[in-house]
Amino acid sequence: MRPASAPVQQPLPAEYAEASEEELFERIARAKATLGRRLVILGHHYQRDEVIRFADLRGDSLKLSRWAAQQKEARYIVFCGVHFMAETADILTAPDQAVILPDLGAGCSMADMAPVEEVEECWAALADTFGEERLLPVTYINSSAAVKAFVGHRGGAVCTSSNAAAVLRWALGQRSTVLFLPDEHLGRNTAVRLGLPFEEVAVWDRVRGELLLDPHAPEGAELRPERVRVVLWNGFCSVHQRFTPEQVARARERYGVKVVVHPECRWEVVRLADAVGSTEFIIKTVSESPPGSRWAVGTEINLVNRLATENPDKFVMTLDEIVCPCSTMYRISPQHLCWALENLVAGRVVNRITVPEDVARAARAALDRMLAIS
Ligand code: 13P
Ligand code: SF4
Repeated sequence: MRPASAPVQQPLPAEYAEASEEELFERIARAKATLGRRLVILGHHYQRDEVIRFADLRGDSLKLSRWAAQQKEARYIVFCGVHFMAETADILTAPDQAVILPDLGAGCSMADMAPVEEVEECWAALADTFGEERLLPVTYINSSAAVKAFVGHRGGAVCTSSNAAAVLRWALGQRSTVLFLPDEHLGRNTAVRLGLPFEEVAVWDRVRGELLLDPHAPEGAELRPERVRVVLWNGFCSVHQRFTPEQVARARERYGVKVVVHPECRWEVVRLADAVGSTEFIIKTVSESPPGSRWAVGTEINLVNRLATENPDKFVMTLDEIVCPCSTMYRISPQHLCWALENLVAGRVVNRITVPEDVARAARAALDRMLAIS
């Protein structure tokens, strides 16, 4: 759930609901042409085909943040993605550039699992246990601007699924214990990748307000705070947490596939996969594999379906036979895109995402550290 204070998307005028897809496509193309170089449309790989076809640039979170920071000419940056991505783009662009999210309901349930007030409470508890001077926070980019600012204030950095290992390695070189927010799975997968044993990983149970030893630690092991190097906030992505080790085994057995998954999947799935990485990595891995390759992909279904269409010389299937779209990414529709663009043509900026400057400044410090590390 988005926080109660989050802006609500107003229903669109009836003309958008009533227009055919063909008409919407024509109107979007016309509005784009009218706005010319004043407009850039950024699109995340999970967007549906009907929307991504209009993106000037498409990418994973890291690529899109870099591109947002490079847009010096465009006055309007229309972000076909989710709220934290639009906030990040606003933080990285100039004050006279407007970042627009075509549907304000496009949030990220994982980002919403880490309200900044709860992060502050956790930090206070960890400071009592570890000593604040020994702690450093790192937040996955899938978090609110307020959480990024919290991290930036304390000398920490943002990471994405592309650079989580580099950022976590950097953070562990700075202080003895890192609080990793908000994705437990990405944090655990990255800690394991860096060679940390589970006895050095703890989980902050955000519901009970309790520090626990990682459940994968050997039986009988006890939480010893002086050994803990990474504390994982127990947020998750409901799309990626669905994938199971049984699905990996079944896909291999029935279809003779290799398996590539996103690092937001559970460690039990990631450890069995042939390849693990961001959406951009998944696309590259499948596209660059030899003709005839066979892949099961553990990530959002719009991307998997597009990979199958764009790689007709390969066999590409989803790891989960029950379709798993990201329902918030899906909220960006051709209707909303058309409405946002036609308003811009008429001189009205709708659905502008603005991060207050004091929050933006601290969040930018955390983002800049990430961009420098990676
Ligand atoms: P990427 O940075 O890999 O595109 O991931 C974004 C995301 O939200 C995955 O669920
Ligand atoms: Fe958030 Fe999961 Fe959707 Fe990514 S797929 S935007 S993590 S809810």
